[in-house]
Amino acid sequence: MRHTTPADGAGAPSLETRSVDKSFGAVEALKDVSLTVHAGRVHTLLGENGAGKSTLMKILAGVYVPSRGRILLEGKETVFAGPRDARRQGISVVYQELSLANNLSVAENIYANHQPHRFGIVNRRQLLLDTRKLLTSLGITLDAETPVSDLSMAQRQLVELAKALSYRSRLLLLDEPTSSLSHSEVDMLFGVMERLTAQGKAVIYISHRLEEIMRISDKISVMRDGRLLCTLPKQDTSLDELIALMVGREMRHLYPLRRAEPPVAGPPMLDVKGLSFCGQLHAVEFSVRGGEVLGIFGLIGSGRTQVMKALFGIRRAAGEILIDGQPVLLRSPADAIAHDIAYVTENRKEEGLVLGHSVTRNINMVYFQHGGARFGVVNASAEARMTRDALSRLKIRTASPEQAVGELSGGNQQKIVFSKWMGLRPRIFILDEPTRGIDVGARYEIYTVIRELAAAGTAVILVSSDLPEVLSMSDRLLVMREQRIVKELGTAGLSQEEVMSYATGAVSA
Ligand SMILES: Nc1ncnc2c1ncn2[C@@H]1O[C@H](COP(=O)(O)OP(=O)(O)OP(=O)(O)O)[C@@H](O)[C@H]1O
Ligand SMILES: [Mg+2]
Repeated sequence: MRHTTPADGAGAPSLETRSVDKSFGAVEALKDVSLTVHAGRVHTLLGENGAGKSTLMKILAGVYVPSRGRILLEGKETVFAGPRDARRQGISVVYQELSLANNLSVAENIYANHQPHRFGIVNRRQLLLDTRKLLTSLGITLDAETPVSDLSMAQRQLVELAKALSYRSRLLLLDEPTSSLSHSEVDMLFGVMERLTAQGKAVIYISHRLEEIMRISDKISVMRDGRLLCTLPKQDTSLDELIALMVGREMRHLYPLRRAEPPVAGPPMLDVKGLSFCGQLHAVEFSVRGGEVLGIFGLIGSGRTQVMKALFGIRRAAGEILIDGQPVLLRSPADAIAHDIAYVTENRKEEGLVLGHSVTRNINMVYFQHGGARFGVVNASAEARMTRDALSRLKIRTASPEQAVGELSGGNQQKIVFSKWMGLRPRIFILDEPTRGIDVGARYEIYTVIRELAAAGTAVILVSSDLPEVLSMSDRLLVMREQRIVKELGTAGLSQEEVMSYATGAVSA
């Protein structure tokens, strides 16, 4: 497939680790990891949440120093004195947790570390020109001067990507770059990755989206419990084999089986009428019944998250929201919670978690703030029980329940966001990218919980850019485009292509 390397597929080793260990106190995150990445290849790291993928990536990016072992760059042993040094040696990175400065513009973020200078001052004109040229070459339609705080998660991921590519490195490390992206943006990224490998560069790629891994990888390394189990060429393996290697058992189904009967038709639990923000949302109308899973799909900037923010009282919008037929005023998240609405956000860093606090505190945060505590007293044993249940149900990997959430792997943090809202037993459960960064086994658990909540009468709204996920989980699907709902579809027998044709506007409703 690749053009620059000999027929057997092996380009020159671009980067190697030899017997690398990494510990954080008592936690052994990496054990004896020897990885060889070749030039002109996309090399994927696969593994459950907490397997050690991001830790390995950060060692290759100069963020962490290995506790033991060596790193070789194009055959020569090297040491990275820090991220800046690794960058200087030709390595650029998109981290799993976004690292942009929210108050700065798209352009300022992309060139944060190498702004064009003239006579010692930043040449703003040149900065904007360079940014526009870079974005255009990538097919990203974003305004260079927009502050990052105005962007959605997916748009921020694209800015991170542009930033990493602005360095013209020989090795690109991507830690879950597509977790908020939908089809067409993923296609764009894969196009870029193909161009880079054709130029002889190497890409290390981490993702929990297995379909995408099978599309883009040349080689796949499976990690488990901090060890590198094996490295396989893509053509010699299958999705089933990879899943079995990763989770240590076979998984017959990726999604719980569908209910035989569609949910009973009752009066809507939630009714949304004429929801609008100036220019950002146009007369959005829909309703959800108890027991129903309503999917919402749309491309970047289609308005999905704006709708959810209005429903959770984060943004005030014109229009009407009714619960059980009664108009309600949702001026703040506290109002929404008082109406038994819960919201799993797509941005765990800003809206979901207190990273410095313990796992226990984060899981119990909403529950005890809103009615869980009898007479204002937090019941320590109830708290411990809720934590234990959540940890075992979703297989959350922590050193102890007292560990700070910020020290957990990305996927484990996301499981905590989910657990914390699940504990509230909401009547209306809004899920915005609930499985972002979560491994295949734990996803199945989350899907099972969603089904159980629905079966118990909860109205679930599932926003996701993962099309197989929304199609498998929703009873009904709304497609959004340009801040409007453009189509409502039943999901039985619905194809990804049909949904995409409405989402992109190839077919008008
Ligand atoms: N700064 C830290 N302090 C303490 N423990 C840490 C730290 N960073 C990572 N760990 C631990 O190291 C292990 C590996 O974490 P890592 O982030 O590499 O996993 P991952 O494979 O990237 O998982 P995910 O798919 O969830 O992103 C986990 O048990 C995690 O809690
Ligand atoms: Mg990770």
